This record gives sequence, structure tokens and C-alpha cells, in this order.
Amino acid sequence: MSVQGLGYIGLEASNLDAWRKFGTEVLAMQVIERDADTLALRMDERCQRVLVQQGETDAPAFFGFETGNAKTLQAAITKLEAAGVGVTRATETELGLRRVEAMAWCRDPSSNRIEIFHGQATGDKNGDGALTLPRPHGGFRSGTLGMGHVVFHVEDIDASSRFYRELMDFRLSDYMVKPYRLMFLRANPRHHSVALLQSPKNGVHHVMFEVLALDDVGRSYDAALENWRIGQTLGRHANDWVLSFYAFCPAGFMMEVGWGGRTVDEATWTPREITHGGSMWGHDRLYMDEERRRTANEVRRAVVKAGLGAPLQVTRGQYNEVK
Ligand SMILES: [Fe+2]
Repeated sequence: MSVQGLGYIGLEASNLDAWRKFGTEVLAMQVIERDADTLALRMDERCQRVLVQQGETDAPAFFGFETGNAKTLQAAITKLEAAGVGVTRATETELGLRRVEAMAWCRDPSSNRIEIFHGQATGDKNGDGALTLPRPHGGFRSGTLGMGHVVFHVEDIDASSRFYRELMDFRLSDYMVKPYRLMFLRANPRHHSVALLQSPKNGVHHVMFEVLALDDVGRSYDAALENWRIGQTLGRHANDWVLSFYAFCPAGFMMEVGWGGRTVDEATWTPREITHGGSMWGHDRLYMDEERRRTANEVRRAVVKAGLGAPLQVTRGQYNEVK
């Protein structure tokens, strides 16, 4: 498998201060000042997972997908080029900003800048030292699962599906056909590292980060309620079982802070069609217009009636069994 997961993201920002505040309050990540125009957000042993660069606008800039080493990176490049995708090798400046050994990039069918890389520095190698999150925090769930997931709005879901599944080696976890087309794609045991949502316009729907302690979802939710625009209220997803909320980040799309995602057993998993909507409860889609929100809430009421539920997915040290 050439692509192992989502490794980093890059954003352009008109106001770095907004990112210092959002990164600290809602994401609870360490803000590292790289230079006057660049800041990095750190959440785990890696030196950075989010790179924010001063620019004219507020927008996503790139998405970095990790490959294991120089050989698998080259194999991934060869595969893309053989399919006619134009691949550009990173400049020294780009490598330095990302703190990676090697990187090449292309455009996916929705024009997102997709970077494939290997060898991202850890904090100690980069000289950043130990991770210091801005408040007491149980840490993020990343490692072999990657930093989280990204959901893209795509105008042509079939073209995007071909790109991610056939050229980037993602596997289909599950999918929705009605009321809209949606595909969840995995690159590791995380249920999805990428999802594709058929939409009238290309863009980013949201980026998700997963925390290890449920309480950290609540603490971030409190901060988001106080100072930021909520996109979706607290709720639990019906397919990856993540308990989460969504807040709008300064780049204009949503960021999801979640907990308790299920992992996929590659040997036994079969892709299924989702026929019960996106959430078991909650996730009131405040960002939608009234009509779409009403429809979404009708779907949710039907799901509640059906009693859809799932056991909690709890990592070691995060629970006591009681009688
Ligand atoms: Fe999500």
C-alpha cells in the first residue's frame, strides 16, 4: 500500500492571530511560531500537522498524504504519472517548510493540491522539544492512523473516486447514495482518511482530529460555543461511531473534534451502503439552510426511532468497567 494516511495539511490565512486563537482554544494544539509569516500547529510527536502561512485569503492550500519511505513514494509517483497525472517534485523551500525528506504533488480531479511525502521530522529531531499542549489534555489519536481525515466537496465523485481508489490505493469503507452521494475511503485502520461528497462546487467540507479522552471533546466544545461558530452540534456518527462536534475554522470550512472512532479490520470488512443518514444522534447541522436542516433532522428522528446504536470504542486507560 503506497499511501498510509493523512500526514499534514496546509492553509493560507489572512490573519495568523485567528489561527493562534482557534488552534489553541478549539483544537488544543501547540502553536509554534516558525517565522513572521508562518505558524505550525503541533498535536503529537511530529513537529507539525497543520502549517498556516500568511496570505491574501483564507483557504486550504494543500493536503499531505504519507508514504512509508523513498521507495514507496517513488512507486506512488510512478503510478500517478503512468495514469497521465502531472506530478511536480518539491522545491527545497517546500521541503523545509513541511519538514519532510521528500515530497511531490499533483492536483486531484477537484483541483485540491495533493502532496505525497515521506520522512516528516518529529519534534525532537526538529529542535521543538517535547510536545506542550496549551491546556491539560489526554492527547491525540494519530500514529499509524494518521492525523485524522478530510472530507472534500467534489463536483465529479466518480472521477475523484477513481483518483483516490485506483491511483492512491484507498479502499472503500462505505458509501451513501441517497439523499446524496458520499464515499468513505480508508488508507489504514481508521474508518476513513478521505471522504468524497458529491456537491455543486469543489471545496473542503471538514477536517477531523481525534482525541484520546472524551472529556477533551467537551472542553473543545465549550471553547467553540464561547468564541466560534458551531457547524454541527455534539453528536455521534453512524458509520465510524465518532462522537464529535464541528466548528468553523478561520479558513472558512469546518473542523471536527472527535473521539472513539472504530477501526476497520482489513481482512473481514465489507463495504456497505449507508441507508440511515450520517448520525445516530445529535450533529444538528446548523450550517445548512432551514430546509436542508429540517430534512436532516427528519432522517435523524427516523434513526432514533430505529434505535441505531454502537458500543463505545475506548482506548486503553480511558475507562473503568463498573458493576
Ligand atoms: Fe468527519
